Amino acid sequence: MSDSIGKLLQSAVSAITDSTDLKELENLRVAYLGKKGQVTALMQQMKGLIAEERPKFGQQVNDIKVEIAATLERQKTLLAEAGLAARIEAERIDVSLPGVGVDVGALHPVTRTIERITALFGQLGFEVAEGPEIESDFYNFEALNIPAHHPARAMHDTFYFGDGTLLRTHTSSVQIRHMQRVGAPCRVISPGRVYRCDSDQTHTPMFHQVEGLYIDEAVSFSDLMGHLETFLKLFFDQDDVRIRFRPSYFPFTEPSAEVDISIGGGDWLEVLGSGMVHPNVLRAVNVDPETHRGYAFGLGVERLAMLRYGVDDLRVFFDNDVRFLRQFG
Ligand code: FA5
Ligand code: MG
Repeated sequence: MSDSIGKLLQSAVSAITDSTDLKELENLRVAYLGKKGQVTALMQQMKGLIAEERPKFGQQVNDIKVEIAATLERQKTLLAEAGLAARIEAERIDVSLPGVGVDVGALHPVTRTIERITALFGQLGFEVAEGPEIESDFYNFEALNIPAHHPARAMHDTFYFGDGTLLRTHTSSVQIRHMQRVGAPCRVISPGRVYRCDSDQTHTPMFHQVEGLYIDEAVSFSDLMGHLETFLKLFFDQDDVRIRFRPSYFPFTEPSAEVDISIGGGDWLEVLGSGMVHPNVLRAVNVDPETHRGYAFGLGVERLAMLRYGVDDLRVFFDNDVRFLRQFG
């Protein structure tokens, strides 16, 4: 093999085997074997040779052409394999690494409190009834012995829609709806949202109440006190709870009492209103006050949640700050 042909082969093979990617390899193929490539250029030199030398020269050029082509092919396979290996390495998943944490949500403390109240009254034989949050004047006031211009309306800071409907200010409206539906006897609780134009540390414009209603032939005020005390003791489930019944006034109950709670010697906090259902309320739903009577109460859910969880500002329940809510998970 002539010197120049041998050198060309050597330089081609070393350039090809040194190449590190497919693009570079393709450039080398063009540089050596392409139409204007170095090997093709050698072929053209044949014209200038004498006839006897041509076959040998042609043979040699052809040999290195084959050799270069084979080298290109081998390198291509090598590079493809290396590329695949690198990709596999890069995309490898280490199954032993710690997983990406999934935040598990939790029930809102108010929801949990409602569930706890519902479960405890369920044990005392109370079913659950529901009513609408947008109410008529009749269910929220009129049927509850609060006629128009009654001063008690002022205590409720009502949101009115202006068309005779309003946002219910208490769950007592469900007493009326329930007695209209099933009459007496009955024993229900009714949890839900209520609204008042009112806001400070122990009041929010939207809050939750659980209404209770128990009507039968001989329900007494001592039943009311006994049942509420049993419930409150079970609800707080701790020794240092003090319960105080305080005489009060509601147009729809007579006599009436509010209940305050103090935990661990702390301040008294009003948690509910209650009383014996007023005869006028029974009449409004066609229950005979001569044969039936009963008690009703309305619990403030957030107030119970505050006491149970040791929260001193009711408004934080509705700020929806996850740092606060997470503590109840
Ligand atoms: C009533 O709403 C009566 N309907 C309760 C009732 C029912 C009496 C049946 C007799 C028979 P009162 O306005 O006091 O009463 O509210 C009841 C409870 O809801 C309060 O004791 C308190 O715990 C809670 N509460 C009242 N206003 C708010 C408020 N703005 N934010 C949070 N809780 C409140
Ligand atoms: Mg009150």
